[in-house]
Amino acid sequence: FHVDWDLVTAEKAGFDHFMLKEIYEQPKAYRDTMLGRIADDGKSVHLKELSMTDDYIRSIRKIHIVACGTAYHAGLVGKSVIETLARIPVENDVASEYRYRSPIITPDTLVIVVSQSGETADTLAALREAQKNGARVLAITNVVGSSVAREANDVITTWAGPEIAVASTKAYTSQLIAFYLLGLHLARVAGTQEQAAVEEIIAGLHALPEQVESILEQALLLKQVAESMAHHKSLFFIGRGVDYAVAQEGSLKLKEISYIHSEAYAAGELKHGTLALIEDGVPVIALVTQELLYEKTLSNIKEVKARGAHVLAVANSGFEDEVAKSVDEVFSIPKTLPILSPALAVVPLQLLSYYASLALGHDVDKPRNLAKSVTVE
Ligand code: AGP
Repeated sequence: FHVDWDLVTAEKAGFDHFMLKEIYEQPKAYRDTMLGRIADDGKSVHLKELSMTDDYIRSIRKIHIVACGTAYHAGLVGKSVIETLARIPVENDVASEYRYRSPIITPDTLVIVVSQSGETADTLAALREAQKNGARVLAITNVVGSSVAREANDVITTWAGPEIAVASTKAYTSQLIAFYLLGLHLARVAGTQEQAAVEEIIAGLHALPEQVESILEQALLLKQVAESMAHHKSLFFIGRGVDYAVAQEGSLKLKEISYIHSEAYAAGELKHGTLALIEDGVPVIALVTQELLYEKTLSNIKEVKARGAHVLAVANSGFEDEVAKSVDEVFSIPKTLPILSPALAVVPLQLLSYYASLALGHDVDKPRNLAKSVTVE
């Protein structure tokens, strides 16, 4: 009797790759990141770990969100969340650019740095630059005791657990949860939201883990799509509003592990140049989760279809029949509030990247030229 066993195989807990395991760990990561931060009666969010006072929160005039890569993409959703819920203006910066553009940082600027590892050199340098200019820094990180966590004035820990695959999945979605909680915390202090709206968002947050589970049950549908996509040289992700932010993350994920060229575009921007690249058979992945922008996105989809694109739409359940009339395939995600949809819509994109990389025979967990933590500038 012989058992093949090694530590890495054991750590993968039956999954072929860490990335797939981490995609499947997302429902737990969502629950763990929410745990203890939402009142039991579902009426409010209190981030008790924050040392910033209510008076300080009311004095914040603007927020800078600074990060790299996937964490930067989480920050793009964070901007929408904070501006919508707390009505504080937010700017996003890539950390490697931040210091060199001489940003206007004043004591009433809150700088939020986002980093899974908490060790990314550019993010750490941005944090120090912000503090040097008198701003408070709030870190959203997955590693307790990391450099970013130690140096920031405040920390929101994402409880995603260790992320081993170079391609970030559960860390990104946990960062989204952290932004939802932060947005609700700031909104409570600033008094910018009606109680009923807050309770509706909290109920929506509580529903997310099960909704992700239901998406994961459909994973094999995406495997087929990914396998046909994998043989194309180039493809496009389009969306509007927060769907555009998710499109950018989907595109990065695909490039990172499948090495297929892809670009993300704000759907309304296509006709300003990108449409020239659409020809027969080019795959386009369209995100259609924002009710307000639904008609506009559909008309952008028709623009690419008319040029021969093969369109896969990721659409809200309820819209899928209507969307199906204009596209080649639809993957439907459960209904949620528009602001929460990134936490669902990104999951099929993660799976598409995973299966495309697998179909091409690449090293999913350790893509070429990339490191999990980038500690050089
Ligand atoms: C994610 O898939 C990437 N590997 C990369 O963009 C990563 O998010 C980036 O390097 C930032 O890392 P951090 O969150 O540890 O700071």
